[in-house]
Amino acid sequence: MADEMASQFREHSIAEFFKKNRQMLGFSGKIRSLTTLVHEYATNSLDACEEAGILPDIEVQIEQLDNGHIRITVEDNGPGIPKKLAGKALGQMLAGTKFHRYMQQRGQQGIGASGAGMFAQITTGRPVKFRTGTGDGKAFSADLKIDFKTNKPLLEEEEEKDSAYRGLWIQAEFAEVKYDKGEYSPFEYLKRTALANPHAQILFIEPTGERTLFPRASDLIPEKPVEIQPHPLGITTSDLVEFAHASKERKLSSFFVNTFSRFSQGKVQELKEALPEVSMDMPPDELQWEDAEKLVNAFKKLRWISPEMDALRPVGPEQVAKALKNIYNPEFMAVAERKPKVFRGGIPFMVEAAVAYGGNAGRRKADGSVGGDILRFANRVPLLFDAGGCAIIDAVKGMDWRRYDIRDFEKEPVSVFVNFVSVHVPYTGAGKQAIADEEEIVEEIRLAVMDACRDMQRYLHGKVREAGREAKKKAILKYVTQLAQDLPLLAGKGKPKEIEKKLLQMIENKYSQLTLDEAEEEAANGNGVKEEKPETGNGDEAKEE
Ligand SMILES: Nc1ncnc2c1ncn2[C@@H]1O[C@H](COP(=O)(O)OP(=O)(O)O)[C@@H](O)[C@H]1O
Ligand SMILES: [Mg+2]
Repeated sequence: MADEMASQFREHSIAEFFKKNRQMLGFSGKIRSLTTLVHEYATNSLDACEEAGILPDIEVQIEQLDNGHIRITVEDNGPGIPKKLAGKALGQMLAGTKFHRYMQQRGQQGIGASGAGMFAQITTGRPVKFRTGTGDGKAFSADLKIDFKTNKPLLEEEEEKDSAYRGLWIQAEFAEVKYDKGEYSPFEYLKRTALANPHAQILFIEPTGERTLFPRASDLIPEKPVEIQPHPLGITTSDLVEFAHASKERKLSSFFVNTFSRFSQGKVQELKEALPEVSMDMPPDELQWEDAEKLVNAFKKLRWISPEMDALRPVGPEQVAKALKNIYNPEFMAVAERKPKVFRGGIPFMVEAAVAYGGNAGRRKADGSVGGDILRFANRVPLLFDAGGCAIIDAVKGMDWRRYDIRDFEKEPVSVFVNFVSVHVPYTGAGKQAIADEEEIVEEIRLAVMDACRDMQRYLHGKVREAGREAKKKAILKYVTQLAQDLPLLAGKGKPKEIEKKLLQMIENKYSQLTLDEAEEEAANGNGVKEEKPETGNGDEAKEE
């Protein structure tokens, strides 16, 4: 029996693993799969441009082919990929420039482009086509397949041409995907990408041929992300084992000092005293789970300098405002500015929040009505799926919206923007679509959204008051003509025409006096909707009659 089992024992390559577990890469459901593909290509373009300091120009086309397949073409003006790396970058899983870097980027694991290629191959059997140039006079194009057994790229139709081309053009055909323009669609995905990346210009061409340009709202290139060392308090046992095994240091002590931030020789000494049974002279690649767990627990008992905060790259309040205006043209919007915080004691993060009201803000529902919309982002990447159990949804839905003059969040034209920024986003699953609802994170999101809402409340409150004034003014105006005729009779003097003119003037004066600014100020001083007090002054004459 054992022999028989042994004869069936096989080692699987990582590519084979993901081929069998493609839902882990976001390939489940026809609509979601298509959005995932667009996401993988578009985030790569944005990452590459950001790192190279280029203002991104991205074109995404989706075509419905006669054979039922869907063809995706994405082109960017980024730095391109050098010929000798292109095959590996696009066709080998767990290969890429971002692997093992503690840095705020969209991609991380090197399974985006290659995962997409894998999906093309297993659903249509067709290769990925690409052309790339680095702007140095040569462009390289090829057809790419993946050898699942070995997780190696196979290139065909290779061609190198003299060309000043710079960027990447990539095209692939897929089945088991469906195009639809709903709230989980590539359209919505790109719209939100544009929102969190106001420096990018994105052109989207739908299967119908309809072209939508999300224009660049700002020429400011985001600051380049920087790589930082992980803080000892921010890592898990499995991180520690992984880092240790990848390390080229000879001893645990030097591995600690050189891998982590705030880890001095002094700290190594403290650790030795706290945990004498684990030798600091051990080669890091021999670190076992048990010791790693002890070490992580010991880290928690030492006092550390807090982590470096300057690796965080938010969109920035002015940029968020520009993007919101560009895309929703709202009646009103407010952006909160918050300072970086730390979660799990060692991972810096920051929450950017904004609200937009009116205009095109809010979610268009199937029945044509508009309701509140929550726009979730992690490091500027839109999160469209798995809303349940996401810290952002928990925080926003848990708020008492009536405090902000939003009577029913589901029925008002309001969009809430939240971008979670960190070198380490605690996603709830491999699909990377929801942020773990850790207490520190939910709380900070709540505070950020409340900050933004405070301004909105002032505005909405002013609006409510103004609407009330308008109604009153109208009601009073109805009596003016009659009153102007009756007054001379009662008083025995005056001319109706003149009195009417004066009355109209008085009413106009009274109701134009309280400007929106004053209303806002009033609202800021009090809370909730105040009852209007009976007024004295010019208006009284009209009431007195
Ligand atoms: N549009 C692009 N421009 C330049 N380089 C790219 C582009 N797309 C992918 N790459 C390179 O290919 C690598 C692998 O991409 P991918 O499989 O999506 O993994 P990840 O984004 O997690 O690194 C990237 O790290 C990058 O070096
Ligand atoms: Mg990627």
